Amino acid sequence: MKKTPRVKGERTKEAEEQKHNKQFVDYYKYMGIVDEEEWDKFYACLKVPLDICFRINTIDKDRETTRKHLFSMIADLAADEETRMMIPAEVMWYPERETVFCFNELSRVELRKNPKLKAFHQFLVRETETGRTFRQEKVSMIPVTLLDVQTDHSVLDMCAAPGSKTIQILEALHANGEKMNMGFCVANDVDAKRAYLLTHQARRLDLPSLFITNNDARFLPNLKSGFDRQNVKFDRVLCDVPCSGDGTLRKNLGLWKNFNAHMGHTNHPLQVDILSRGIEVLATGGRLVYSTCSFNPIENEAVVQAILEKFKGKISLVDVSKEVSPHLRYRPGFTSWKVYHRGKGKKEAPAWHMAWESVPEWKRSVLRKTMFHDTYTYNNN
Ligand SMILES: C[S@@+](CC[C@H](N)C(=O)[O-])C[C@H]1O[C@@H](n2cnc3c(N)ncnc32)[C@H](O)[C@@H]1O
Repeated sequence: MKKTPRVKGERTKEAEEQKHNKQFVDYYKYMGIVDEEEWDKFYACLKVPLDICFRINTIDKDRETTRKHLFSMIADLAADEETRMMIPAEVMWYPERETVFCFNELSRVELRKNPKLKAFHQFLVRETETGRTFRQEKVSMIPVTLLDVQTDHSVLDMCAAPGSKTIQILEALHANGEKMNMGFCVANDVDAKRAYLLTHQARRLDLPSLFITNNDARFLPNLKSGFDRQNVKFDRVLCDVPCSGDGTLRKNLGLWKNFNAHMGHTNHPLQVDILSRGIEVLATGGRLVYSTCSFNPIENEAVVQAILEKFKGKISLVDVSKEVSPHLRYRPGFTSWKVYHRGKGKKEAPAWHMAWESVPEWKRSVLRKTMFHDTYTYNNN
């Protein structure tokens, strides 16, 4: 049968109307990722389109000109009755002052279509094309701010594409304004097409300190250095792993339809293996940051716990609370959680498990021991 052609904009409208996923609600309510009284506010927040956010390139020689230009454009918007409430505000928690700005409650469509915002939109497009500004979500900037990259560091970005965090790393490596420093970054991604996107991003910075590789991060080959061909160990490792991405519902509308409560389970073993390789190539005294864009403890705390257990005595968790700006609102990670299984057909009902021991044999190919809190035994199967 011939399909009825879609009317322009219909798909977006449909997606807007479908911003609900029962499995998501049931899963995360029972998991208790926010307090019961916070749930409605939390869920409503996920339905609001993502704020538009951008960062001024801090190592660009023209950054002061860009900043001045930006402030004069903001002043123009502020002077107009109609656009006064639409001006981008500085993101106060970002370590470098006056570099990150965010429009609150202004959609991409509005920025593009509102004639009064046209000049600002054109400014953003132009500055982004030339690499004087970068578009990046606020939360996506957090991991690198905690990596504490210095100009002489060797840095590994294990899952780097499309490269917004790699750019931040490069900015930190050249924070002293020098083009040639001792530090360098190896940015890796398993997906060749996405790795190519990364080269496109990085080209705008034109820096000699970046190496792009295309490997499965779980089996990242050792880099050799010096006459004695020693394995290179990295001072800093960023492990921004593939994940269910359910923390990106505000921009990935397809997830409202596609989320299912086993997504985290599928990612967990891969995440454990990538993080494990990251630890193996980390230098003594080095720092690794692990990040996902998922709410799921199975993809977050459980993975970290598995690795703390595997490398017991060799690594420790760093308390970064003193390194974070008081403007950044966050909460501590979970110390306990439950593990869900959807059951099988009509015979086996869905169930939540508190301990690995209560998991029947037939579920154990999906529910790994490392998914459970306090199991503290690394399972390599
Ligand atoms: C969350 S995204 C990374 C985003 C990136 N760090 C950024 O800030 O732009 C995860 C990336 O991991 C890559 N990936 C998936 N499996 C991988 C693997 N086994 N080894 C290396 N990269 C992998 C994906 O291709 C994807 O680009």
